[in-house]
Amino acid sequence: MPSATHQFHVTPQFAHRILFTENALQLGNPTLEEALRGDAVEAGESLRVFACIDDGLRASFPNLANELTGALESMQDGATPVELVAPPMMIPGGEACKNDWSIVEQLWKNFYAHPLSRHSCVLVIGGGAVLDVVGFAAATAHRGLRLLRMPTTTLSQGDSGVGVKCGVNRFGQKNWLGAFAVPWAVVNDLAFLRSQPERDRRAGLAEALKVALVRDAKFFDYLEQHAEALQRLDEEPVQYAVAEGARIHAEHIATGGDPFEMGSGRPLDFGHWSAHKLEQLTDFQLPHGEAVAVGMMVDLHYAEQVGLLAMEDLDRIQRVARRMGLLAPLARPEVVHALEAAVDNPAAPLLRGLEEFRLHLGGELCLCMVTVPGVSCDIHTVDSAALRGALRATLVLLEDVRS
Ligand SMILES: NC(=O)c1ccc[n+]([C@@H]2O[C@H](COP(=O)([O-])OP(=O)(O)OC[C@H]3O[C@@H](n4cnc5c(N)ncnc54)[C@H](O)[C@@H]3O)[C@@H](O)[C@H]2O)c1
Ligand SMILES: [Zn+2]
Repeated sequence: MPSATHQFHVTPQFAHRILFTENALQLGNPTLEEALRGDAVEAGESLRVFACIDDGLRASFPNLANELTGALESMQDGATPVELVAPPMMIPGGEACKNDWSIVEQLWKNFYAHPLSRHSCVLVIGGGAVLDVVGFAAATAHRGLRLLRMPTTTLSQGDSGVGVKCGVNRFGQKNWLGAFAVPWAVVNDLAFLRSQPERDRRAGLAEALKVALVRDAKFFDYLEQHAEALQRLDEEPVQYAVAEGARIHAEHIATGGDPFEMGSGRPLDFGHWSAHKLEQLTDFQLPHGEAVAVGMMVDLHYAEQVGLLAMEDLDRIQRVARRMGLLAPLARPEVVHALEAAVDNPAAPLLRGLEEFRLHLGGELCLCMVTVPGVSCDIHTVDSAALRGALRATLVLLEDVRS
């Protein structure tokens, strides 16, 4: 066979800007304008912005749309005035918006009607679900509009909002439709976290524990030392855990060698094969972070069963998760039922999560396992007896948490 006559291998680079602040919309705070403009120089035209807001913020921030409008109207200096092309679009928050295709259609219609170009920007304020649906619409219009995310939950500020993915649900599967698209910028306004319901705020910290376990022993030590304060949701450790989680997450994207997940290794998906299934099985009543906490417990027990993780490390990690308050909400009948159903039945719905993950990866299973806190490895086969043992051990743990 003749070989290729020419070959070019190029390695494009991309900037991924994540800015932390408080009260980003307050006049005089330059963060949002810096994020919006970036290094782009488009003298002579206005910088057109279409804004979307999670409707779940309305109760705590009734004036948010006006504040955003005011903040953008104040950005008139320089050769490129900022122009808000329409009143902010309010989008119902939570998982339901990712199951409602009409929202994507409405977003596209709005981008078309108030014509946005490749130099325009879609600005979105909200939880991970609203960021995902708006991100998907923006990624697919004109092959990708600039997207400025302002995440408002612990989960989205520390994890989903600082990633490079977006997606909506289809065929009953999470994120079946979606895209990889590096956001133009992310502005994490820590003031938003104060209004988040306590249960969701705490659940989002499960992703901080996740990145600590797979990548960063020092961060795990921090979580261990501040577990009670995190359980109480004290502001300083919560802000630190969110910011450090975001940094490690972004660093993994930048240095992990596979920012767009072309290969099979998925350390950031540790514990997620069962988490995604549990969310679906509980009709999305279980917040993503709580589902991840269960999923991590199952996989940690599995790692112990097959000799990858020492019992004392498993105990230590469980104690940290428990002291952080991540396990208490999990002893719910629907979670227990889903785990119990999978113990003796290989065809149980929960275990379909494993098969769906394998298919998603392209045939060969690749699961991230923690070997010591801060270090992980990949495995490619699952021993069904050990998995049954892991499910049973997780049930015992949940029973213990409940009593
Ligand atoms: N794209 C990715 O890479 C990625 C990664 C992980 C998770 N996710 C997705 O993120 C979603 C979960 O996001 P989430 O945990 O941020 O929750 P969420 O977006 O589902 O929001 C939960 C609820 O909180 C409300 N809310 C949001 N911010 C608030 C605030 N500051 N104060 C009061 N209420 C507020 C919302 O309106 C909603 O009712 C899931 O759909 C998950 O699949 C995406
Ligand atoms: Zn997650």
